[in-house]
Amino acid sequence: MEYLIISASLRSTSHSRAMAQRLTAAYAARQAPSALVDMRDYALPFCDGEQTREHPQVAALTERIAKARVVALAAPIYNYDVSAAAKNLIELTGSAWENKIVGFLCAAGGQSSYMSALGLANSLMLDFRAVIVPRFVYATGADFSDGKLVSPRVEARIEQLAETSMKLRYV
Ligand SMILES: Cc1cc2nc3c(=O)[nH]c(=O)nc-3n(C[C@H](O)[C@H](O)[C@H](O)COP(=O)(O)O)c2cc1C
Repeated sequence: MEYLIISASLRSTSHSRAMAQRLTAAYAARQAPSALVDMRDYALPFCDGEQTREHPQVAALTERIAKARVVALAAPIYNYDVSAAAKNLIELTGSAWENKIVGFLCAAGGQSSYMSALGLANSLMLDFRAVIVPRFVYATGADFSDGKLVSPRVEARIEQLAETSMKLRYV
């Protein structure tokens, strides 16, 4: 699928998943071919840098990422970074991220972790020559009510992420 959205939270009432679903709807409204992958549907091993890349679920995810032109990672912010589950996915799927256009949707508790995904963004740029979409979506608990996204500002940012990721081309 040209646009792959990955929901990396393992939480049942995840805010980043709600944003991933909203981005999926934004792509659908633009007739852009997209698919949503929910990490809760996978039981991935921790990356050991050896055999784990051959795990069947890892191989399936690697293929889906490799086939996408744009990958949007919706992730929780834990300890001033993306969650370990999100980072583990990238460690497991490694070079599938080469030359991708990558967008971020981050769910955090508060505003102070705003730049937390930049370490991962830098590694994607340096390791895999990924191009990071300069439309960063960052939401806090205040943007949700009963697990639902209720912030027009965040919704507008998601629309901008969809628009910009569709325009960006890797040359
Ligand atoms: C282990 C853990 C660490 C967290 N660390 C941070 C943090 O560093 N900064 C922050 O703003 N929120 C932090 N939070 C709050 C989460 O980012 C927040 O609950 C967010 O909604 C999680 O994303 P999700 O709803 O998609 O699972 C943390 C939560 C947990 C459980």
